[in-house]
Amino acid sequence: MPRYVINGGNPLKGEVEISGAKNSALAIIVAAALATEGESIIENVPQGRDVGTICMILKSLGVDLWFDSQNRLHIKAQNLNRYQAPYDLVRKMRASFYCAGLLLGRLGKAEVPLPGGCAIGSRPVDYHIKGFSQMGADITIEHGFMKATCKKLKGTNLFINRSSVGTTINLMIAATLAEGTTTLENAAKEPEVVDLAIFLNAMGAKIRGAGTDIIRIEGVDKLHGTEYSIIPDRIEAGTFMFAAAITGGDVVIKKVVLEHLRSPILKLEEAGAILEKGANEIRVRAPERLKAIDVETSPYPGFPTDLQQPLVAAMCLAEGTSLIRETIFDRFRYVDELRRMGADIKVERETAIIRGITKFTGAPVEVTDLRAGAALTIAALAAAGTTEIYGVEIIERGYERFEHKLRCLGADIVREETSEVSDIFSQIDEVKV
Ligand code: EPZ
Repeated sequence: MPRYVINGGNPLKGEVEISGAKNSALAIIVAAALATEGESIIENVPQGRDVGTICMILKSLGVDLWFDSQNRLHIKAQNLNRYQAPYDLVRKMRASFYCAGLLLGRLGKAEVPLPGGCAIGSRPVDYHIKGFSQMGADITIEHGFMKATCKKLKGTNLFINRSSVGTTINLMIAATLAEGTTTLENAAKEPEVVDLAIFLNAMGAKIRGAGTDIIRIEGVDKLHGTEYSIIPDRIEAGTFMFAAAITGGDVVIKKVVLEHLRSPILKLEEAGAILEKGANEIRVRAPERLKAIDVETSPYPGFPTDLQQPLVAAMCLAEGTSLIRETIFDRFRYVDELRRMGADIKVERETAIIRGITKFTGAPVEVTDLRAGAALTIAALAAAGTTEIYGVEIIERGYERFEHKLRCLGADIVREETSEVSDIFSQIDEVKV
């Protein structure tokens, strides 16, 4: 189990380039497999574990895909011919459930494991399944799988009970090849949804209204490959913004879309950071000490739930008491780890009450989920002493070369492999009895 070893106290200084958006790449890679003609070439794909997993799943379904020397991902899906997604790969990542929309749309048949729970809550997929059923699929849920068949999905009017990125993406993927028009009411408006719609239209789909709460998808007979570049990752950008602000740093974060960062920018300015915006970059300078603020997470364009954890880490050192309310997921488990570093946080139902302290102290801590890992790393960068962060393979699911980018900004951080329990047993074998 790899770990980071971080000696805190260095202010982050310099420039960092943001990678492509993980949550856009996962949707677009699956959607590319809808094409029966040509090949898609996708640029700015972040090289993280989750992208690797979705590529392995598509390969297992018969899709040809490879990265070229310029790190562009090529996808040729003519040979997609298997409708059963493998459990051992799907269990690693919830976004694998997008294969349900792909397989139903492409093959009229899908057997996909239901995603299990995860560290940030139960995260059901009932809205996805309801949408497929309303589009005419016959669905049975058995042995932990969703088994669905439908000769051809039928376009219809769908209302999604609450703003859901995954549901919007999965139903959009399924509806592109359906017969007739599908409307998604109460659709998610996240930039990753818009990125997917633009990509699908470049493949020959007919989608209008992405980015609003009503998306119309007119079904087409087939789709073809296209060339495309993934939008920058707004959550990675926000993570570096909070890292600069909490370490007393001065960082220029390059290759961002400012429009996607409006709420984190406004909240960080409210906390006293000095932000200078360029065309597609933002400079973040830390104040002497951040001020406590109140934040409530909400669907885009509100404050993103995925930045709740880095924000909480930053507010632990702010002057005053902050109230951070999490309305999307149940994602405060990591607070226990921050407490090990000296944080003064109380969680009451869905609100974290954070009383600012003057500094974190280094400690061994464990990553519970992707964004918690980012929060612990940020806290460690600002801590007095050494922090060991265990389970960093979870961070590598969604941050490309995270420790490398931080080291380039002056952080004292190394990644080490630790011995697995199994190694210990092999060592015992070697002991002369
Ligand atoms: C996506 O998750 C992102 N993941 C999450 O990012 C992000 O936090 C979330 O959207 C924000 O809404 C990817 O894009 C791969 P939802 P998703 O459907 O689609 C409930 C990260 O760190 N719901 O928008 O799973 C759900 O429980 C990850 O990169 C149902 O009840 O989230 C939640 O309370 C973490 N039934 C709410 O809707 C359903 O069928 C919003 O979830 C679907 C969702």
